[in-house]
Amino acid sequence: MTAKTMEELVSLCKRRGFLFQSNDIYGGIKGLYDYGPMGVEFKNNLKQAWWKSMVYERDDTEGLDASILSSPVVLKHSGHEDTFTDPLVDCRACKSRWRADQLFENNKCPNCKSEDLTEPRPFNLMFKTAIGPVDDGSSFAYLRPETCQQIFTNFKNILDSTSRTVPFGIAQMGKAFRNEITPRNFIFRVREFEQMELEFFVKPGTDDEWHEYWINKRIEWWINQGIKKENLKKIEVEKNELAHYSKRTVDIHYVFPHGEEELEGVANRTDFDLGSHTKNQNDFKITSEVMKNSSSTTKLAIQDLEEKKWYIPYVIEPSAGVDRGVLALLNEAYREENIDKDNKRILLSLKPHLSPIKAAVIPLKKNNEELVNLSKEIKSNLQKLGLGRVVLENSGNIGKNYRRHDEIGTPICLTVDFETLEDKSVTVRDRDTMKQERVSIENLSEYYKKYFN
Ligand code: GAP
Repeated sequence: MTAKTMEELVSLCKRRGFLFQSNDIYGGIKGLYDYGPMGVEFKNNLKQAWWKSMVYERDDTEGLDASILSSPVVLKHSGHEDTFTDPLVDCRACKSRWRADQLFENNKCPNCKSEDLTEPRPFNLMFKTAIGPVDDGSSFAYLRPETCQQIFTNFKNILDSTSRTVPFGIAQMGKAFRNEITPRNFIFRVREFEQMELEFFVKPGTDDEWHEYWINKRIEWWINQGIKKENLKKIEVEKNELAHYSKRTVDIHYVFPHGEEELEGVANRTDFDLGSHTKNQNDFKITSEVMKNSSSTTKLAIQDLEEKKWYIPYVIEPSAGVDRGVLALLNEAYREENIDKDNKRILLSLKPHLSPIKAAVIPLKKNNEELVNLSKEIKSNLQKLGLGRVVLENSGNIGKNYRRHDEIGTPICLTVDFETLEDKSVTVRDRDTMKQERVSIENLSEYYKKYFN
């Protein structure tokens, strides 16, 4: 069972330290959220799982971590300065602002129901900031609206420093910023978010096949993170709705608590971006007007040694939202269960590799020196295995600890009791089945490694 409502998820996230409204002691800012102690672990685990599958487990990709502040020239040539807009309408009656395509009742203000709305006008979603000490408008940068442009601008650096040739990919995870007109649905549509993007460069002509490959690969990956197959949908983006760079895009939709919407997009960006950032485009097939104004001094191309000519590779881009991934996986893992006729529990049945806390070590009696010291030793040994965060719970309230760790998705709790001092074993309780078994301290590392691998 997934979460019943978005409110239930929002409440769990605040109660257990996954997510907080940003700046909330001053009333908050719409479209900004902070990841708390559990949220940061969970998000990092999700990103790590992506990096592992996109970089470590492949032989045809490299990684990158580029700057967030982006030169306007880059975003001019990428097409963002001219086309990265949403249609904005103002309500003349209540002065609220809306995205024209999100007026659910045609031509009525969602706030006051007035029909006195302005004509839609383009609103650029990029955040601008001054660079250097003088803020006179002459020197500025944008906060990147997508992580991939710096992958394109580093294309030659990475080719030269790694001796790669196509097909190969460059992966990057990190922050992106969009001044959304109507941020909404918790962390689904926000103004500051993270993306996990791979730009996979291929020879033109092989792009359609690689596109299919990546669509299927990405759906498989989300299923491996714990999303049920039936909650994911492949949606072909209509030709007239394609982004300016795309020949074909397939969106991977998920059934979020507020409805079915995009979790990830897999686009065939053709040679648009590398072409746009290349100087001597006349040598290449031109696909866009914007290339004609390029002032880049670099040729972002590959030499075909057999055919003795240069060509601009096509790029297939799987682009996933980290925050939307967090929301989807929390929703997917959320369960409410009756323990007996009077008691129920909430649990997050997360895959163990994503759980914020891997194990909690709980001495049965608070502040009992022998039990606490042994628990500390067990905790420290498990922590050294490097599989994620392990915590010591020294509150002496086993029931409360189990409830808390069920709700944050801790796969196992280890209780150190007075018997432990005699038989050198601990009680291991499984989150999902609530079954308990005794495991000897001597075998604990092996048991633990097996559990998480
Ligand atoms: N480089 C391609 C690109 O940025 P996109 O469809 O605009 O494509 C990719 O964004 C992903 O980034 C989306 O599928 C979504 O998961 C995430 N995303 C986009 N805008 C977002 C927002 N305002 N809030 C949260 N996530 C967002």
